[in-house]
Amino acid sequence: MMLESKTKAQQAIELEDKYGAHNYHPLPVVLSKGEGVYVWDTEGKKYFDFLSAYSALNQGHNHPKIVNALIEQIQQLSLTSRAFYNDTLGKYEKYITAYFGYDKVLPMNTGAEGVETALKLARKWAYTKKGVAENQAKIIVCEGNFHGRTISVVSASTDPDSYSGFGPYTPGFIKIPYNNIKALENALQDKTVAGFLVEPIQGEAGVVVPDEGYLSSCAELCKKNNVLFIADEVQTGLCRTGKLLACEHENVRPDVLILGKALSGGIYPVSAVLADDEIMLCIKPGEHGSTYGGNPVAAKVSIAALEVLNEEKLAENSERLGEILGKELRNIKSEMIKLVRGKGLFYAIIVTPKNGKTAWDICLKLAENGLLAKPTHGDIIRFAPPLIITEEQLLECTAIIKNTIESFE
Ligand SMILES: Cc1ncc(COP(=O)(O)O)c(C=O)c1O
Repeated sequence: MMLESKTKAQQAIELEDKYGAHNYHPLPVVLSKGEGVYVWDTEGKKYFDFLSAYSALNQGHNHPKIVNALIEQIQQLSLTSRAFYNDTLGKYEKYITAYFGYDKVLPMNTGAEGVETALKLARKWAYTKKGVAENQAKIIVCEGNFHGRTISVVSASTDPDSYSGFGPYTPGFIKIPYNNIKALENALQDKTVAGFLVEPIQGEAGVVVPDEGYLSSCAELCKKNNVLFIADEVQTGLCRTGKLLACEHENVRPDVLILGKALSGGIYPVSAVLADDEIMLCIKPGEHGSTYGGNPVAAKVSIAALEVLNEEKLAENSERLGEILGKELRNIKSEMIKLVRGKGLFYAIIVTPKNGKTAWDICLKLAENGLLAKPTHGDIIRFAPPLIITEEQLLECTAIIKNTIESFE
């Protein structure tokens, strides 16, 4: 076929396939525009975005306030590096630390970098404050975790897709079952443990919600054993689960808090690690950083993104509409749905294949019917719309999901 006779979508897919690394397996949908809860493909077909770039778009696509913040700042000053001060970073640092109630913030760009930062911070704290012998510090992590893609982070993973073929691995991780307080208690017997790194709800694992009381018990155990409770709220944070932070469901204040994704509302890569002085000041000048971390554009974008969460009451919306989403998903009558679980506007269904049809086929059909969602681990579909969605739009979406899945019966 001549290039000219191919659709724009075919061309885009072929280009990615030919020139891009094959490290993703996208649905065959080519998007060219986004606004609010909607995206459009190259043919002009409109879809509800029910993935929100893995919860980066909590404030919706191209939120005008965040876009304006980016444009205004980028025309003024985009990057200084941290070799010099800039007139924006300090204001952001003051804003975000007050917003979450911590003494200090360390700005980075991606979620994985935020996690790496937290790991380094915990190790440094263990050596300088806890008295752990050099090079002995351990971090406890949970089976099924997803914290990103760097070598150290995949060294902490129990998912063969994440770690296989990428050894040798970074030592110093103790892996315990998720949602198992006893396992944590046992692991904490090791006095070289610096921190416990945990997702309040495991997102990539398929929205695995732990039992009530798990997080608060873990936080208590960490405190008792002088171990840092490190919450990876990169996906669960920023109103996704119906509270500003998922840890708030159990009144837990992490010693170290990792944020990313929606910290910029999908406009710019921004991540952050928050902690109090006792912990954060263990890292000294020259010991950690990033060329782009804390740049003026990220600072302005992030303030705007956090303001939107408050101004548009996105935690409340997520909590209220999440109830409806959960109820509607549980009402779907289909043998293909083995389980529904979630919190706030963060849900997943576990799919039992039927007549050779799998979660992938459901997602293809959902796309055909105007709703984009993506399977994870082969048999799980996550539903995470932008949190600005209205009740009317949500009901339109749950009708699409219901009709689509029931059409496989
Ligand atoms: C809980 C969690 N931590 C960290 C990350 C990594 O973030 P990034 O892809 O921005 O590096 C993710 C990404 O999905 C995540 O869900």
